[in-house]
Amino acid sequence: MFSFSETVIAILLLLICNLCYSCNQAEYDIGGECCPVCPQGDRVYKHCTGQSSTSCVPCVGLTYTDEPNGLTKCKPCTVCDQGLGLKTVRTCTSSSDTVCGVLEGHYCINPYKGGCRAANKHTACKPGQFIKQPGAEYIDTDCEDCSDNSYSNGSFTSCKSHTE
Ligand SMILES: *[C@@H]1O[C@H](CO)[C@@H](O)[C@H](O)[C@H]1NC(C)=O
Repeated sequence: MFSFSETVIAILLLLICNLCYSCNQAEYDIGGECCPVCPQGDRVYKHCTGQSSTSCVPCVGLTYTDEPNGLTKCKPCTVCDQGLGLKTVRTCTSSSDTVCGVLEGHYCINPYKGGCRAANKHTACKPGQFIKQPGAEYIDTDCEDCSDNSYSNGSFTSCKSHTE
């Protein structure tokens, strides 16, 4: 027969294994039950029961799911905010979020999944500085001071000599 301490350990192990139990990858947990996930582009309409599988419906009205899921609500599509220096590069679909890119004259400061989440205006070089490297989509303008006896109004790509 098992000793008292062996019985206690067995019960503890059973409890721990119940807590650590989770559904497999193609399922989600709802109140301790495992239901099949809905495909990307869909969401859960009704959780599965002993008799029926999960019932799924497509995402509508500027919402999406970009992976198989057990969500009862689709996620709202990202809006590319002009105030953050962004424009829309790819519109949202039921199965993929909007992709934002940077507005003209801006560079991305927060790249995300092949797009951008925030951008800043390119730095304008000051008088006395020249543009060493113009700004691009992912880099800011590189300004450099003119040496003595040369000048630039801030938009030259090289400094001009005073004595020319
Ligand atoms: C600098 O000079 C160039 C040509 O002389 C002009 O086109 C440009 O607008 C000037 N930029 C500034 C910031 O004054």
